[in-house]
Amino acid sequence: VEDEKMNEFIDSLINEMTIEEKAGQLTLYTSGWDVTGPVLRDDYMDELRAGRAGNLFNAHTVDYAINLQKIAVEETRLGIPLLFGLDVIHGYKTTFPIPLAEAASWDLEVIEKTAHLYSKEAASAGINWTYNPMVDIARDPRWGRIAEGSGEDPYLGGLIGAAKVRGIQGMDLSDPTTILACVKHFAAYGASQAGRDYHTVDMSDRELRQNYLPPYKVALDAGATTVMTSFNEVDGVPASGNKYLMTEILRNEWGFDGFVVTDYTSINEMVPHGVVANLKEAAELAFNAGVQMDMQGGVYSQYIPELIAEGKIKEATLDEYVRQVLEMKYKLGLFEDPYRYLNKEREQKTLYSKELMDHALLAAKESIVLLKNEPAKGQSEQLLPLKKSLKSVALIGPLADNQKDMLGTWHVAGDETKVVTLIDGIKQTAPNVKINYARGADFNGDDRSGFAEAITAAKKSDVVIMAIGEDYTQSGEAASRSEIGLPGPQQALIEEIHALGKPVVAVVMAGRPLTIEWIDENIPAVMNAWHLGTMSGPAIAQTLFGDHNPAGKLTITFPKNVGQIPVYYNMKNTGRPFDANNKYTSKYLDVSNEPLYPFGYGKSYTSFDYSGIELSSTNMEMNGSITVSATIKNTGKYAGKEVVQFYIRDLVGSVTRPVKELKGFEKISLAPGESKKVSFTVTVKDLEFYTRDMSYKAEPGDFKVFIGPSSAEGLEADFTLK
Ligand code: IFM
Repeated sequence: VEDEKMNEFIDSLINEMTIEEKAGQLTLYTSGWDVTGPVLRDDYMDELRAGRAGNLFNAHTVDYAINLQKIAVEETRLGIPLLFGLDVIHGYKTTFPIPLAEAASWDLEVIEKTAHLYSKEAASAGINWTYNPMVDIARDPRWGRIAEGSGEDPYLGGLIGAAKVRGIQGMDLSDPTTILACVKHFAAYGASQAGRDYHTVDMSDRELRQNYLPPYKVALDAGATTVMTSFNEVDGVPASGNKYLMTEILRNEWGFDGFVVTDYTSINEMVPHGVVANLKEAAELAFNAGVQMDMQGGVYSQYIPELIAEGKIKEATLDEYVRQVLEMKYKLGLFEDPYRYLNKEREQKTLYSKELMDHALLAAKESIVLLKNEPAKGQSEQLLPLKKSLKSVALIGPLADNQKDMLGTWHVAGDETKVVTLIDGIKQTAPNVKINYARGADFNGDDRSGFAEAITAAKKSDVVIMAIGEDYTQSGEAASRSEIGLPGPQQALIEEIHALGKPVVAVVMAGRPLTIEWIDENIPAVMNAWHLGTMSGPAIAQTLFGDHNPAGKLTITFPKNVGQIPVYYNMKNTGRPFDANNKYTSKYLDVSNEPLYPFGYGKSYTSFDYSGIELSSTNMEMNGSITVSATIKNTGKYAGKEVVQFYIRDLVGSVTRPVKELKGFEKISLAPGESKKVSFTVTVKDLEFYTRDMSYKAEPGDFKVFIGPSSAEGLEADFTLK
């Protein structure tokens, strides 16, 4: 009944619309930004009034957006309300950890709640559509946008994408605390060659379907209502004009019934891509490929009327596209109340609420990955956690007393003045410890004039904490790097501090894996703290001083050097797998095949022992299942959490199979001395893959299973699929 009502309403609206108004509903423009807040260009204002622009993005805050909605509702001929989009990637005002960081929590509940909370905060400020989740698989840390995704694994990436969709959209879109999600960037944007943003993507259909497409599909199956195209080409055709992706796979195979929006001017960019000669041809190609909405290009609004008149696109298709957009406006409840997301009182109550700030702290702590923890020279105990009874610490580095950079990339409306810095976090957590602070170095150039002050601070302190890494502009969109070591003179600084012989803890904050082999070899304690958002300082300080025991595990491999890239855990074995005694095997002359830190890796202040791997049966029928279990014991002196990981290897397939694939995980909490049996169920679904003839199925044969603390360690057992 509800659907019938909606269809009748939309039918009657479409009947009244001119071609120009229809094209307007497929048009999305951005609001720019002035010192005081967002502003819409005057020419877009005219388009809005004429009904030639039905959607806006980057137009937020109730005061600002309400006036634009009023124009759409009161001054356009049909009064159709606007959609208001925004990149709420890891927070609106309250900023949570960057997505790559939060993925390291392996905590789907935490991730879903984060997504719900930032959506709720944005929704209170007029936003009803966000361009999130980004589920692009990435194996190349040179790519700056690796920060915005969940890392390299398709299985985990899909689960995280789905958790975000649930968090963003909730159960009922007309609830004003929930908004539309947008799964992006369809497709394979993370595979840009050499990690250079917007670069060519070229891979086999098998690779595309096996490793790159699954997270989009899983996020869509969770109910995502919109999809964004990617900037890149796939098999020679830019995504925004790629019918294979947008129609054959997305609509026909997957049954997607929401709408597709392009990335920013990506229809127009098909001209420099070289697949069309001009913007009119670009509009035609995108439209006929199955793309509903044009972001910022203005080509749909300009050329759709002509293309219809010339018979190059069909009006029936136009109506269908308009329907897909209007349906979303209807489901959000905008026709019932266009001001549903524009309630000033709710905005004031929601921004930076305690609920948001508390969860921002929790999510930040769960994202921290302890990479190394050994005793400092001459000591017998692990350096971390630090004792609150320490007399003094030197806090050195450009991220020690820094608000803006802790917000990380794409923090849109995130307010740096609300960020609690590391220095303040330490003051709150360990108030009796004297802090000797020195910035020491910058993120760029080679100015070493701050080194002397840093050395003095280090010399008069018991322990040195180095807060080093990238600034917020050094990862994210159009922020690819060809060398991914510590930028600027930071490497030289840490080497000089290390030479003083003091115990040093490196807290590395960055939007990507950095090549920190020297640090791993020389510094006893290393913590990867990414860019953790508003509550970065307390999260890191509480972890350094033991109020929180770190449990994060990497969802992206850390290479030793750039030459190893791409290096990822679910690689193929090759016909000549590594053999130290045989030159003619797959390896380098100058670096091992092993990464610095593998996928799934992360330490704790306590230790865990894995034992007793058991299978319910060593034979499995095609329609049956088996259970694989192991016992994990906390053998250290701290209570802690552990992400127990489950991998499978298919030993022989009609096409080559990866050496390991993640198929399950469980995050458990154990008190000292406590143990727990963790079980994983294997069904045929876990064994399916694209076989030689591209059918998706499991093949009988032998499999290995692994339960362990990372992709590189663990217990093994075998079973046979009959
Ligand atoms: O959502 C983003 C996208 O990820 C990159 N280009 C711009 C879009 C809208 O801001």
